[in-house]
Amino acid sequence: MAHPIAVALLVALAVAACGTEAPPRPAPTLIAHRGASGHLPEHTRRAYDLALEQGADYLEHDLHRTRDGVLVVVHDDTLERTARGPAEDCSGAVAEKTLAQLRRCDFGAWFWERRPRPALPPAAAEILTLDQVLDRYRDRARFYIETKDPDEAPGMETELLAALERHDLRPQSRDDRTVIVQSFSPKSLARLHASWPELPLVLLVEAGELPRPLDAGLERIAETAVGIGPHRGDVDAELVETAHRHGLVIHPWTVNDTDEIARLLSLGVDGIFTDYPDRFREVCCEEASTPVRDTEAR
Ligand code: G3P
Ligand code: CA
Repeated sequence: MAHPIAVALLVALAVAACGTEAPPRPAPTLIAHRGASGHLPEHTRRAYDLALEQGADYLEHDLHRTRDGVLVVVHDDTLERTARGPAEDCSGAVAEKTLAQLRRCDFGAWFWERRPRPALPPAAAEILTLDQVLDRYRDRARFYIETKDPDEAPGMETELLAALERHDLRPQSRDDRTVIVQSFSPKSLARLHASWPELPLVLLVEAGELPRPLDAGLERIAETAVGIGPHRGDVDAELVETAHRHGLVIHPWTVNDTDEIARLLSLGVDGIFTDYPDRFREVCCEEASTPVRDTEAR
């Protein structure tokens, strides 16, 4: 396992390599991917709570919309992997179920089917709406929200922005990173940017699909986004340098091996998505020091 001091040194060297003129880059950001989802069922209160206990800077959420128009946090577009309960409610497409139906499902039991069960029987886990998440964590977390399959859910972006507004989470500028919205869909990000140009956006990129030529591609992305989220295997020094030259942060996903976390940090990435916040903290860096809820600055 990489030693924390060695990693800190490598990170410092990577920062210095950016040039003596450049201001020091902030400490890398720990993004808890679906919460501490390596330890507890993803997108549940317990996984989010544990992520914060383990020092996450951000809670990551995947958004889908129910048949009755409610934004819920769940990764898959279908229920088979993570929902257990009556088949009519808990199988098939999320988009074809009402929120009332999804509330009849247990979103925790699947996790223990493949692992030793804890001494105490794990409590059932209900699906969470985006509003529930924002309400519960607004004063103690940052949010990194993904529009999933947005082109299948027209209006999702408008509803997301309305939810942020309801919870007083509209940023005043792109430097306010309390909420970051991410998507694999450039169209979804374009819609968000058209409505709220001040909202920090990150374009996710599938494995092996970085734009080529890289320089022109990242220049184009920087017109609307503050960062890119590449697959971990696509990150090298050229990508980091080019992203930074265009003012983009770079947040690779999803990195669960401590040696790989250390490798990416030494290349100078600005943050990492991981299912194991504790592993990230084994190798790097204190939590972001900016107050989570700086309401006076809003
Ligand atoms: O959002 C970053 C990463 O989560 C993208 O992959 O499939 O886990 O949403 P996925
Ligand atoms: Ca995601």
